[in-house]
Parts: sequence; C-alpha cells; structure tokens
Amino acid sequence: MTTLIHHIAEVRDALDQERANGRTIGFVPTMGALHSGHLSLIERTRAECDVVVVSVFVNPLQFGPSEDFSKYPRTLEEDTKLCEEVKADIVFAPSVDEMYPAEPLVTLSAGRLGTILCGHTRPGHFDGVATVVAKLFNATGRCRAYFGRKDAQQLVVIKALVRDLGMPVEVIGCDTVREPDGVAMSSRNRYLNGEERTAASVLYRALNDGLDAIKAGNADPVQVASAMAGTISSEPLARLDYAACVDAEDLQQVTAVEKTVLLAVAAWIGSARLIDNVTATPQGAAIQEV
Ligand code: PAF
Repeated sequence: MTTLIHHIAEVRDALDQERANGRTIGFVPTMGALHSGHLSLIERTRAECDVVVVSVFVNPLQFGPSEDFSKYPRTLEEDTKLCEEVKADIVFAPSVDEMYPAEPLVTLSAGRLGTILCGHTRPGHFDGVATVVAKLFNATGRCRAYFGRKDAQQLVVIKALVRDLGMPVEVIGCDTVREPDGVAMSSRNRYLNGEERTAASVLYRALNDGLDAIKAGNADPVQVASAMAGTISSEPLARLDYAACVDAEDLQQVTAVEKTVLLAVAAWIGSARLIDNVTATPQGAAIQEV
C-alpha cells in the first residue's frame, strides 16, 4: 500500500522512523508524468532497498521563463496508481508552497557543469535542479537515490552536489529505457504528434552514427559530433540544439577519443526539446546498449 505524503516534516519523520528500525531508504526523485523509464527506476529501487520513496514535484526553479513549466504534465492520481503497482511505499508530492514557502534567497549553483551542453540553451536549469535535489535530500535524509542516465548531465551535477556538499546519499545511475524504435522514454514525448514521434528516432540514429564513426577509427571528437549533427539536420522535423562528444566523467571537451566518452544530442521536434546520450569506449562500443 502506497502512502501519499504532501509535507516535508511528515516524510522526514516517517523515514527517520524507518532508519531507526534498521531499514534502508531508496529514493526516486521525479517530476511525475511517470513512464516505463521511471517504473524501471522504482523497480530497481524496490529490489535493492527496504523502503521506496518516489517524489513527484514539478520544480519551478529549473524551468526558464519561456519553457514548459505551466504545461508540464501533472498526473498525480495516475502516478500514485503506478507507484502502487510497482510497490513503492511512499509518494512524496509537496506543493510549490511547501517546497518554496518564500522566494528562495539561498540557492545552489552547478558551477561550470551548469553552463555547458544543455546549460547553453537552459541557463539556470542545473542550478534549479541542484537546489531542489538538495532540498529533497534534506527531506529524505540518508538514502540511495536513483536517477536515469538519459539525463546524463543532471546525473553528473547531482553526483558533484553530493560529493561537494558531503550529503549522506549514494547516487545510482540507471540505464535509459527505450521504445522499440530507440526513442528514449521521456515525459516530454507526450508533446509529440504522430509524425513528430516518428521523427524523434533521429536522436537515436544520430547516436548510432556517432558510435559507427568511432568504430570506423575516427578519434576526432569534432568529426564524431558533426556526424551526429548531420544525421539530426537531415530530419526535416528536427531542429538541432547540439551534438557533442565529451569526457564521460566531467563532460569537458576532449581532444581525442582516447577514453570513455559521452555522445550527447539535443534537438527540438515540434515544441518538445528532446535529449539523448550514450557512453562509448574508444573502440566505439556502447557501454549502455543503444
Ligand atoms: O529528472 C527530473 O525529473 C528532475 O530534474 C528532478 C531530478 C526530479 C529534479 O526536479
């Protein structure tokens, strides 16, 4: 039976009690509109932890003024049912007032990790993510927290957040879940019409073209990125944001593909901005299956 909690004090007390009884806490932070990708995170958490908490909070701080905060899908009733099906113990769904009772005076900065890749197009986004995730971790306390690798830059920011602020949280990255045509599961796929949904597989094809270029012996990250950009630009319904081949650990530019790299792409399809990535060895093998 899944308990729905709206208040920070209540979730904190419940989890303190569980830890006092010797139980481990697994946490899956989300913005709701749950899909199979989220459910696979929750299932893994269920298998590895005694108590499973899923947060559902659409965080205003991580949306830019012209982004989709107001139209972001809010489906708490449906989300709670899905959490029940995968046996989550707690859904923590605070209101905006509960999380931000006043305009926050103190927020976090993701530093240079927040200004590269998606940070170019979404200035302030990763600061907003770091701030809300820190607040969520303050509410949950010591736990293992599970995040999808589709949001690779977010995962790097959150690992740095936990390391740099010494938070009692173990951050675990989980593989991207894909549709049969390779499209990564995302709540924003709901924005796509039929034609756009078909076109969205261009991101996956671009990543495979990047992998193929490396496999063929191309170790120049600029050429690998441009192969991926070319694929995306060949799709009339797609508008390229970026294609990048960077260090998989710190997301910095590399001069050659000599160690594990992250191939990352972002593009608008209709009104939806979609992202995808894969981690690759210098031989062009995907570390996560694409
Ligand atoms: O990945 C998300 O859904 C969000 O960015 C997160 C981590 C829940 C913070 O709002």
